Amino acid sequence: SFSSPRVLSIQSSVVHGYVGNKAAVFPLQLLGFDVDPVYTVQFSNHTGYPVIKGHVFDGGHLRELLAGLATNGLICHTHLLSGYIGSQSLLEAVAAVAGELRSAYPQLTYVCDPVLGDEGKLYVSQELVAAYKASLLPLANILTPNQFEAELLTGLEVKSEEQALQAAAALHDMGPHTVIITSLASLPHPEYSSPRLSEEVSGQPAAAIAAAHSTPQQQQQEQTAANDEHQQQQQQQRSERYITLIASTRVAQAPGCPAAFRMRIPKLQGYFTGTGDLLCALLLAWSHRYPDNLAAAVEHAVAGLQGVLQLTAAAAGPAVLASTDERSAAVFRAKELRLVQGQQQLLQPDIKIRVEPI
Ligand code: ATP
Ligand code: PLP
Ligand code: MG
Ligand code: NA
Ligand code: MG
Repeated sequence: SFSSPRVLSIQSSVVHGYVGNKAAVFPLQLLGFDVDPVYTVQFSNHTGYPVIKGHVFDGGHLRELLAGLATNGLICHTHLLSGYIGSQSLLEAVAAVAGELRSAYPQLTYVCDPVLGDEGKLYVSQELVAAYKASLLPLANILTPNQFEAELLTGLEVKSEEQALQAAAALHDMGPHTVIITSLASLPHPEYSSPRLSEEVSGQPAAAIAAAHSTPQQQQQEQTAANDEHQQQQQQQRSERYITLIASTRVAQAPGCPAAFRMRIPKLQGYFTGTGDLLCALLLAWSHRYPDNLAAAVEHAVAGLQGVLQLTAAAAGPAVLASTDERSAAVFRAKELRLVQGQQQLLQPDIKIRVEPI
């Protein structure tokens, strides 16, 4: 009964729109997986909207559903996927379920999206950070933190590519053989740090700046300061055009396939919701298809996501220009992911962005 892939997907769900399980179930089905969804919350809509109605589920809810499955002999999952978990009680139940699924099927792949926060803000209680480290990371095979989550789970600062790789190594030591840091904002690309390139693009030669000053010592100091500041600005502007993804795996890769790489994703205008959840589901699907080629899996997953995002942005029209603090329902509704309309892009992604080995 383990011959075809089946995912137990424990995530949030919404009635209207596409986040959590609503962003994961259809793409996984499309890519050939049977999916058994369990809800961690069921809300009317995602939490960006001005009003949210619905219910939050605890560990008892998950345990009850699992008991029903077990009694009927329905535990036959090749994959476990977990997303937003709002309480320690539920987190401990997810850990127990992971153990139960793995004893039924030792080759179980557990893809854990450690949803803790983003951009410096926690959206769960602080105690969940320690609970993830103690109970879920040791069981997870593939972990998909964002930049902030990688920092929270390791206690390390993640502000550069080198630090991202150090955090990934620390996370490997905590359990997962594969770590994909799904988005690093404002990450200076190493190429852009080179003074040669920075001078080339500055359009203002260092000598011209220096010529305006008097003593040679002063010239030297001011020149360095001006260059530093200018270089920082250049880096900032350039890095804001991209979202950088960093991946690292300890699974042996096929010949020529890198075990660590970056991917620079051109940033589309606008802030979308559900993209992290969709990416995580697509990574599960494509890494099953390419078990010893993480680069291919990431390229397919990101291409599918970008295809959907392009459709979404085009359909949303002027709503994509709305500021991130504009929380009107109409704007969020206009920006809901066009998953159904984008099914062709998910099934046969058009790969335009390649990974770069590190
Ligand atoms: P989490 O859901 O765990 O918080 P995350 O913060 O990494 O993860 P996102 O910020 O949504 O999630 O980014 C996930 C992926 O979505 C990125 O790697 C990128 O491919 C895509 N993405 C998100 N926003 C954009 C955008 N404005 N333009 C292009 N791609 C985007
Ligand atoms: N689940 C729920 C219920 C949400 O409200 C949100 C964001 O508002 C998400 C999940 C996360 O979406 P994303 O994939 O953009 O991180
Ligand atoms: Mg994010
Ligand atoms: Na993530
Ligand atoms: Mg998320």
